[in-house]
Amino acid sequence: MKRNPFDLTGKNAVVTGSYQGLGWGMAEGLAQAGAFVILVDVNPEVSQKAGQLRAQGLLAEGLCADLLERADRTRLKAAIEERLSGKLDIMVNNAGIQIRHPVLEFPMEDWDKVIELNLTSVFDLAQWAARLMVALGKGKIINTASVNSLAAGVYTVAYCAAKGGIMQLTKTMSNELSSLGVNVNCIAPGYMATPINTALVEDEKRFAELSQRIPAKRWGQPQDMAGAAIYLASDASDYVCGIMLPVDGGYLGR
Ligand SMILES: NC(=O)c1ccc[n+]([C@@H]2O[C@H](COP(=O)([O-])OP(=O)(O)OC[C@H]3O[C@@H](n4cnc5c(N)ncnc54)[C@H](O)[C@@H]3O)[C@@H](O)[C@H]2O)c1
Repeated sequence: MKRNPFDLTGKNAVVTGSYQGLGWGMAEGLAQAGAFVILVDVNPEVSQKAGQLRAQGLLAEGLCADLLERADRTRLKAAIEERLSGKLDIMVNNAGIQIRHPVLEFPMEDWDKVIELNLTSVFDLAQWAARLMVALGKGKIINTASVNSLAAGVYTVAYCAAKGGIMQLTKTMSNELSSLGVNVNCIAPGYMATPINTALVEDEKRFAELSQRIPAKRWGQPQDMAGAAIYLASDASDYVCGIMLPVDGGYLGR
């Protein structure tokens, strides 16, 4: 029988920022497609969260790490390499934060935080994953970009700069790594109802304005990320290199 090209059985995946929100939606989707998923999060309850997947009969473990801290990232890489004996097939760089200030007041310490987590840690972990994958001759790196990689917002200068960077980082890595068997792509979520957006959802005027602009006429949910993540993690996307796949209810088309 022909193998299902979306089947992830036997693949090892890591998803950062997967205690909740979009990372959780992707981790659950990858596990449901058959992968063993290591959930990484700064929230120490991530291990219990992985337990929720095991309770569904899926393969998952949790690891706590603060990806803002370079030393913690070094420790995390060593722990994952040991756990997987170097066989990392799928790396999803998803952890991210939002800090909002008007551009004239944006404090440098908040700029540094957003850039460190949303851009620098993504490169750090993607480079590490790529080295392991090149040795295996195959691998999939998926970064979480944003509709803000293309369309900028207000009060979010550091976030938009980082997400624009994710799109270019993804393309550049893809240009160098595609011939070595490593696919590097990113997903651009639109407006998703997760805790990162509490401020927007609670601002009635902005919420109404934004909802009006979404052709699907609803905000996305974490589960909406699963299909795109499975596709980009699977053999079905072996000839898909350096793209940004919007999962945005049509937002970027307006
Ligand atoms: N929600 C949206 O509308 C939206 C839209 C576009 C892009 N995104 C991107 O999607 C990704 C996930 O966002 P979300 O909406 O699920 O946010 P969220 O706040 O719901 O979840 C983020 C997760 O990352 C973890 N995290 C935060 N700081 C961390 C750190 N220092 N180290 C390790 N883990 C950390 C959090 O604990 C949390 O589990 C982010 O990169 C975000 O920029 C979100």
